[in-house]
Amino acid sequence: MNRNFKNVSHIIFGRGCFDQLDEILAKKRQVLDSFMLFLVDDVFSQSALRERIPLKAQDLLIWVNVDEEPKTVYVDELTQRTKDFSGHLPEGVIGIGGGSTMDIAKAISLMLTNPGSSADYQGWDLIKNPAVYHVGIPTLSGTGAEVSHTTVLNGPEKKLGINSNYTVFDQILLDPELTSGVPAEQHFYTGMDCYIHSVESLNGTYLNAFARSYGEKAIDLCREVFLDGGSDSDDKMMMASYFGGMGITYSQVGICHALSYGLSFVLGIHHGIGNCIALHCLEEYYSESVSEFHSMMEKREITLPQNLLADIDTDKLEKMIDVALLLEPLWENALGTNWRRVMTREKIKELYLGM
Ligand SMILES: NC(=O)c1ccc[n+]([C@@H]2O[C@H](COP(=O)([O-])OP(=O)(O)OC[C@H]3O[C@@H](n4cnc5c(N)ncnc54)[C@H](O)[C@@H]3O)[C@@H](O)[C@H]2O)c1
Ligand SMILES: [Fe+2]
Repeated sequence: MNRNFKNVSHIIFGRGCFDQLDEILAKKRQVLDSFMLFLVDDVFSQSALRERIPLKAQDLLIWVNVDEEPKTVYVDELTQRTKDFSGHLPEGVIGIGGGSTMDIAKAISLMLTNPGSSADYQGWDLIKNPAVYHVGIPTLSGTGAEVSHTTVLNGPEKKLGINSNYTVFDQILLDPELTSGVPAEQHFYTGMDCYIHSVESLNGTYLNAFARSYGEKAIDLCREVFLDGGSDSDDKMMMASYFGGMGITYSQVGICHALSYGLSFVLGIHHGIGNCIALHCLEEYYSESVSEFHSMMEKREITLPQNLLADIDTDKLEKMIDVALLLEPLWENALGTNWRRVMTREKIKELYLGM
């Protein structure tokens, strides 16, 4: 069966287009006392962008902290805060930030209309009710969270997305100027998330012409950004992220992401750098891409931590393997339907201990 997936319905792209947000939201402000919920990465709390947020007197602005990757408890807490703010739901939820903030915005827009805890919905197609209208505005390019069908959350038991057609943003605003202040290392790690999405998709068994068309474009743009550079790199990286996200919509990621989820859940290692740490050790599976990745690291003067898991407790290592093994579609995409025969717990342990 081929997936019948929903896509973002409205997209605006271009330098300075953030200033059109007010006009976009005005069309959704239908009831006089209704409000919009703005969820903004707190890195912007003292920035010039703060003054450009089209906030009305009745709106709710929450500064989101992403020092740790999004947790289901944080999503539940902010959802409750929004419900307590007013007698009714917001007319829109607007997430402004990197992948973490966009995921928090997606998750809250879903949890405002679905009962219980966000942890109850980690999985595939568990959401029953449509979300509140939600808008994604990336300030960091690479994750593809602006176009994907998932919001990745760390729950009590696992790191897993809420995957559904309802998760997809209704509107995205792609303004490359918003990414200009990202620190160089973060820019590299999140950019590599996009590169790795395409590597894993293009080398996977789920690949089809749809995924290939997007994945190849995304990887070409990453090469231009990280090997050549240039003044329009922010624009290219924003489109690479979009294309990379579209590519995996109709395929899947692979071994690197499965291992990175374990690193993140057990050790709190952030997604972008976690992917880089994992890819560095996956020559056996993605050899050409690993050597290209090393050239990009060299060009960008990036060094990765070594021997990260040398002294890890057995319990933690076992939990990491459990988390990685939960991601069955990723392993199947990478290694085919008989993946369990080759990717044993022992093999995963060996890969982790090489990091
Ligand atoms: N939903 C999806 O499809 C999807 C896909 C991949 C990853 N993810 C998730 O995305 C998260 C990672 O997102 P990310 O790599 O974009 O990073 P992030 O959102 O976690 O942000 C990383 C750091 O960059 C800062 N930052 C963001 N924009 C900035 C700017 N313009 N200037 C200066 N600093 C800025 C943040 O404050 C933070 O300190 C993970 O939680 C991961 O699980 C989601
Ligand atoms: Fe990713």
